[in-house]
Amino acid sequence: MSSGLGQEIVAVINKLQDVFTAVGSSASQIDLPQICVLGSQSSGKSSVLENIVGRDFLPRGTGIVTRRPLVLQLIHRPATPAQPNGTSSQINGTDKQANESEWGEFLHLPGEKFYDFNKIRAEIVRDTEAKTGRNAGISPQPINLRIFSPNVLTLTLVDLPGLTKVPVGDQPKDIEKQIRDMLLKYISRPACIILAVTGANTDLANSDGLKMAREVDPEGTRTIGVLTKVDLMDQGTDVVDILAGRIIPLRLGYVPVVNRGQRDIDQSKAISVALEAERAFFENHPSYKGKAQYCGTPFLARKLNMILMQHIRATLPDIKARITQQLQKFTTELQSLGGPMGDGSSSNVVLSVITEFTNEFRTVIDGNTNDLSLNE
Ligand code: GDP
Ligand code: NA
Ligand code: MG
Repeated sequence: MSSGLGQEIVAVINKLQDVFTAVGSSASQIDLPQICVLGSQSSGKSSVLENIVGRDFLPRGTGIVTRRPLVLQLIHRPATPAQPNGTSSQINGTDKQANESEWGEFLHLPGEKFYDFNKIRAEIVRDTEAKTGRNAGISPQPINLRIFSPNVLTLTLVDLPGLTKVPVGDQPKDIEKQIRDMLLKYISRPACIILAVTGANTDLANSDGLKMAREVDPEGTRTIGVLTKVDLMDQGTDVVDILAGRIIPLRLGYVPVVNRGQRDIDQSKAISVALEAERAFFENHPSYKGKAQYCGTPFLARKLNMILMQHIRATLPDIKARITQQLQKFTTELQSLGGPMGDGSSSNVVLSVITEFTNEFRTVIDGNTNDLSLNE
């Protein structure tokens, strides 16, 4: 499953996504696959994403904490044993314990490496406030963050504000509609895989995330159910009937998880400790111990990666056609600008970057087309 081929294709797609984001309008013309979290406020969306990444870096807690979309590209990078220590003057982490093989980079701060994940969280908060103000306002303008790590699977995830009904603070009266419209923009795209998050201690029939997912994905071909807070369920109750598809069946099924509770967060419980506790919870629970390998965050991450690969394979011919089209358009534009030897303006730089990535993409796709059953 973690074949080099799959990793390579996703890595190229991640690069393309950055380029098209930088170029702006072109982004809408290429529909690259992403995984989005969808659910009520405080259902545990940011916690699920943090557990998948395995690092503590997202602002989260009670109330509306996530106020702008966060496009999070996880890039698997094997650790190199003899890495030089902090040689770059641009290193933004002073934490001597920081692991040099894991870092984050923001698209709006090019070239700056964040080794200290607390500083990543601080930058998300800072940039959120800069664009939305300190109150509970929201903005559809995304924050783009890449995390490089030997401990993640290569995936693109989007953290989104939660569905809410009642305005708080000086939020506008139509906040519910504003958030819905923002979420719809992401989850309506056929290339979006929806992680519909619902607290296991709430009624599944009332799940805002599942309801909205069904609006855009009625066949359930790209919606995965995630049940959080399984640890908070009343004694003697469990999610076995949901997992078996007896309540609201989902084609791609449900994965139950246990994230850190608010007290764990307040006490800075490490994610590694929390993941261990999650594993122990499912392995020892009378309802789940027979199926523990299908429960918890590591299973969710593997499932996601597999679904993403299948999705990319299925959309590959279309992506390729669109890129070829774009390339032709840019080549024509380039010629009308006087070619790459022109005045060195930024548009030429952008064009050459796109050409470079497109060639790289083409090499990967063409080189592997025979190995992929594209009409699967
Ligand atoms: P979001 O608003 O959907 O992004 O939710 P957050 O991830 O910010 O979590 C909201 C609150 O629920 C926080 O206090 C979390 O600690 C808590 N929480 C999330 N998932 C779980 C879980 O599985 N178990 C427990 N006990 N608490 C959880
Ligand atoms: Na929250
Ligand atoms: Mg959140």
